[in-house]
This record gives sequence, C-alpha cells and structure tokens, in this order.
Amino acid sequence: MMPTPSTSTPELLSTPDDLRRWSLACRAAGLSVGMVPTMGALHAGHRALIDRSVAESDRVVVTIFVNPAQFGPHEDFARYPRSMDADLRMLASAGVHAAFVPSVETMYPPGRVTRLDITGPLGERLEGASRPGHFNGVALVVTKLLVAGVPDRAYFGQKDAQQCAVVRRLVRDLDIGVEIVVCPTVRDTDGLAISSRNVYLSTEERVRARAIPSSLATAIAQFEAGERDATALATTVRSCLENAGLDVDYVAVVRAEDFTEVERAAPTNQIVLAARIGSTRLIDVVRLGVDTAPVGRGV
Ligand code: PAJ
Repeated sequence: MMPTPSTSTPELLSTPDDLRRWSLACRAAGLSVGMVPTMGALHAGHRALIDRSVAESDRVVVTIFVNPAQFGPHEDFARYPRSMDADLRMLASAGVHAAFVPSVETMYPPGRVTRLDITGPLGERLEGASRPGHFNGVALVVTKLLVAGVPDRAYFGQKDAQQCAVVRRLVRDLDIGVEIVVCPTVRDTDGLAISSRNVYLSTEERVRARAIPSSLATAIAQFEAGERDATALATTVRSCLENAGLDVDYVAVVRAEDFTEVERAAPTNQIVLAARIGSTRLIDVVRLGVDTAPVGRGV
C-alpha cells in the first residue's frame, strides 16, 4: 500500500496489518506519521488534536474504535454515541490521510491471553478507583494502536489528564518510542469541556454542568491569590459542584506525572474532578499556574 497524497478522502484501513503497512510505507517514503486515537463521535476537541497532528506530521491517521476493554460492565459501551459518516466527513475536511476503523473482532480475536496492568496510584486512584480496569483497557488498546501504527507522534487531550499520564508512562515502561503530544482542553462558550458524553445531558442538566468550569475557575482564582492548601482548594471545588446539585465522585490536587495527591499545591499540579449530573458522569481538570480560568467566576 503506497502512502496517499493529501486528498479529501482518507484511506480506510480496517485491520492492524493494514495500518502497519500504510504507516511503514509512509515512513519508507521519508514521511513522518502522526496518530490521533479516538472513539469517534468526533467533536471540536478531537478536531484540535487532528489539526495539530496535520500541522506537525506529513501523514496523519485517525483511529476510530469504541474500545470495549475500557468500559465497565455497567458503563455506556452499548449507548456510546456513534456517528461514522459524519466522522469520516470531518476527517476528509481536516485533510487526514487515513482512518483506521477496525471491528471489535479484529482488535480482540478470540483466545487472547495478554493483558496490561496499570498499577500504583496512576492506575488505581481517582479515575482508576471509580472505573476499575478502565486504564488497563485504555493501556491495552493504545499499546496495540501504537505498536501496529508505528507513528512518530501520537496526540492526546489534556481533558483526560490521568489517561495522558498513563499513556506517557506506558510508552516509557514498554520502550514504545513514540512521542506523546498532549493538547489543551477545548471548551464550549460556557466553559464546559467538550465531550462526546455531553449529548447525554438534558437542557436543564447542561445549564447545571456549568458549575464544573466555574468551580475550577474559582479554585484557580484562590490559588492565584496565594492559597496553597490542597484541601482548601479541593473543598472550594466540591462545594461549588454540590451547590449546583452535582454528585461529586472525587476532587483532588495531584502531581501531573503520577497522580499522587499533594498537601501543598504548586504550579503544574492539577486539580482533577469527576461528577455526575443525573446519569451522566463528566470529568475535568485544570493545571495550576498554567491554565487560565476555564470560565468567568460565577457563570
Ligand atoms: P475519546 O474520548 O474519543 O477521546 C480521544 C482523544 O480526544 C483523547 O485523547 C481525549 O483526551 C481527546 N479529547 C476529548 N475531548 C477533548 C477536548 N474537549 N479537548 C481536547 N481534547 C479532547 O480518550 C479516548 O477516546 C480513548 O480512551 C482512547 C484514547 C481513544 C483509547 O480508546
């Protein structure tokens, strides 16, 4: 398979072998390869990763695979939004060269005995505690994509901060040799981080969800005013969320690299949160001393 020039229609690849052949052909022709792993239902957050990859790499492959291994038994795998036609149109308009869209059977043939275990706080705390096995499933699929796709760079969103830390760590632990690029969170005009799961929110829930960015904005203002006590910052966020009737799963101030919690907050630490609005679970994060407030306070 020869690398295609940038045309409007991405080449459709459906097996890991197809992906590897495409990528190796690009690289043999001296072209750098960027990869953007996604679960589809593409939105402006994904688009930012894709645009960055297109700007930085000669050839770009976007992977679309709703990965069953990272969903718990009571999670939303079956109803996770799927919009393949619209996704492929978006990839064409973005100038993406190839789309890797495998079936579940292709990615997980029967008889598999290999698994990955993300241990320690990174795998087992916060998102890892709320969603047991989630990061093992993410690690498995990301490893398979990177090993089959041999990209020079792979792009991930800061919105899923713990996922970024897991991916960086596994690339290092397994000597995968791919550069991991983390892109800033894209937000809607009201500050809510754009997510495929936002479609689950009713109009009333969508309004209440604004408490998420505004709680983080309030904590950033407190940090900038000199507050360094992590518990105080987390309590601020938790109170804002609870006042809006959200069901808080966790709020924590963590080190970016390993997601251990800190007592004294410092620049580059992250405030991470997960909260439920009705049956929808949303996560968000800000980097202290790095990110500007996601929304004006009190919005
Ligand atoms: P998915 O939720 O589709 O997200 C794909 C990528 O887009 C992730 O790296 C995610 O962090 C990024 N992203 C999502 N919303 C964003 C936003 N508002 N701003 C910036 N980036 C955003 O994350 C996954 O899929 C899966 O776990 C995956 C890595 C593909 C493995 O299955």
